[in-house]
Amino acid sequence: MQLRTVCAVYFSATDTTKKIVKQIAGGLAGALQLSYQEVDFTLPQARTTPLEFAEGQLIVFGTPVYAGRVPNVLLKYLVQTAGNGALAIPVVVYGNRDYDDALIELRDLLEKSNLHTVAAAAFIGEHSFSKTLAAGRPDGADFAVADRFVRDVAEKVRAISGIPEPVYVKGTPYPYRGYYQPRDRKGTPVDIRKVKPLTNERCDGCKLCAAVCPMGSIDPGDVRQYTGICIKCGACIKKCPQQAKYYADEGYLYHQHELEEGLTRRAEPELFL
Ligand SMILES: Cc1cc2nc3c(=O)[nH]c(=O)nc-3n(C[C@H](O)[C@H](O)[C@H](O)COP(=O)(O)O)c2cc1C
Repeated sequence: MQLRTVCAVYFSATDTTKKIVKQIAGGLAGALQLSYQEVDFTLPQARTTPLEFAEGQLIVFGTPVYAGRVPNVLLKYLVQTAGNGALAIPVVVYGNRDYDDALIELRDLLEKSNLHTVAAAAFIGEHSFSKTLAAGRPDGADFAVADRFVRDVAEKVRAISGIPEPVYVKGTPYPYRGYYQPRDRKGTPVDIRKVKPLTNERCDGCKLCAAVCPMGSIDPGDVRQYTGICIKCGACIKKCPQQAKYYADEGYLYHQHELEEGLTRRAEPELFL
């Protein structure tokens, strides 16, 4: 198969997915001596037209894991993707709990869009809800795994002729399991869907939070106000130079604490070829 380009394609609110996807795609472009492109569809203005690819491209396609699945707010956009027979590598990045059925869901989405999946991976990134859970990941050890993955994928891609079978990945096949549900001490589901960050007195009105919100939901005229949904992606919290955004919701804070206390083991990347 004649390849021309490797393309890093990602949604990444707090940049962990972006880092891994770029490491893999950049490495593959080097190993296969192909040109390199990047499509970042994190912000709403980048999602006004559907993604479109072409034969001869190798797409490294990354999303974070939200509630054990591909972020559901992206589904309406992702199903419009026109793959046009390009090759693809689904990559999910999760916050040290589990990726559940996110990778199999992303693989299926890409295959349905007429992309042919040749390899896949699940990596770990600092949790969107925390500065301590999987702190600093992906780290050097993760990038070393990504580099090894690049070598193996490059070898596989060089040998491909014709249309490959969809790559095997871990997960429960469609209709998948339900979305992961956080629970309180008594086992009662905690519903954090309506929770939004608050803004403290350190806010100096720089409006960066409004600029980085993937839902475009923070009013740039008054960043204390929300004009749309909050997906708890962590962008406004982690990217605020004044640390002016915070959560006060009891259910959210309980879930955050539970994750930080309960998930001390280091989850490791998983590769599928
Ligand atoms: C709403 C939401 C749900 C999440 N659900 C999970 C999950 O089920 N399992 C997990 O390990 N991490 C989960 N995470 C953490 C992210 O997958 C993780 O931090 C990822 O690295 C974020 O990627 P990004 O930096 O590209 O935005 C969740 C994050 C958010 C915002």
